[in-house]
Amino acid sequence: MPNCQHLEKVCSKLEQYEQYRKFKAYCLKILALGNDSLEKTIAIAVALCLVCAVLVSLAAVALKPLQVSNKELDMKTNILDVAGLLEANSDVEKVFATQIEAKLVDLDTGEYVEGDANAYDQRKAAKDPAQSVAIPKEKDIAHIRVKAKLAKVYLVKDGNAIKSIILPINGYGLWSTLYGFLALDADGQTVQSINFYDQAETPGLGGEVVNPKWRALWKGKKVYAESDQPSLEKGLIDEADKGEPALSLIKGTVDTSKPGSQYQVDGLAGASLTSTGVTNLVRYWMSKEGFATYLTKVRVTEKKS
Ligand SMILES: Cc1cc2nc3c(=O)[nH]c(=O)nc-3n(C[C@H](O)[C@H](O)[C@H](O)COP(=O)(O)O)c2cc1C
Repeated sequence: MPNCQHLEKVCSKLEQYEQYRKFKAYCLKILALGNDSLEKTIAIAVALCLVCAVLVSLAAVALKPLQVSNKELDMKTNILDVAGLLEANSDVEKVFATQIEAKLVDLDTGEYVEGDANAYDQRKAAKDPAQSVAIPKEKDIAHIRVKAKLAKVYLVKDGNAIKSIILPINGYGLWSTLYGFLALDADGQTVQSINFYDQAETPGLGGEVVNPKWRALWKGKKVYAESDQPSLEKGLIDEADKGEPALSLIKGTVDTSKPGSQYQVDGLAGASLTSTGVTNLVRYWMSKEGFATYLTKVRVTEKKS
């Protein structure tokens, strides 16, 4: 029994310390007490708490790397999902590595900036005063108070041409801040898909933002008002300024035969407040405060190439 021998060696070393001998004597004294002794009950309870605390701490430390890699995998799965590249049994790591390119964008200038985009955590950066800016109250329609100066966007490319632009979005609903992605065509105008990977709205009400049927309604919708649209002339969309985000969730079902329906998505039944939150967060991130400047530059570059 090599383990026992090892234990004996450790014990005999410990015996050299007086504190250990005192502790051992105390343990033996406690164990010799009757089971109805108050001192024994308290000592056993404290010992049990200590053992459990050590076990929980060890588990937390040992599982941390696994948690981090699972979180990263989950994020990649969400990005592939919104990009329409997630298939059953697909190797997420491989598809992500070959099809998705992460880039850092300066929200002020709309330009790409150098840096390790894969290592950049936009949510963490938003909480760091050195990497974020406060949003003026009158502009903070998404109720997020601060935003990171740099945003992490994801591109799906076909050769040099962009197939999808995936933009991170977040904003307040009714109970929670919703975090998600909006995927657009290379025109920076037509919606491919939306998803929310982190939210705490009520399941069955605001939580329906994750329902695939509702998410499917977004495909083909237009983000920005176009001044030549008859809907605009008739005032059927809220924002009359060309180039301003016009997309919104409406109460009830969109009548697709009516002009302006390309800017409208069905609101979530019984969840007007979450629906308003989604409208506001999409409009915020698609405005000049968010990605409008960047998307204008993408359109120009894509036209040239
Ligand atoms: C327990 C509970 C949970 C609710 N959760 C949500 C929610 O997640 N999102 C939301 O917009 N409204 C939620 N509501 C409803 C709102 O309070 C409000 O009535 C609703 O947004 C109005 O929507 P409607 O005009 O479509 O009926 C909840 C209500 C209750 C009682």
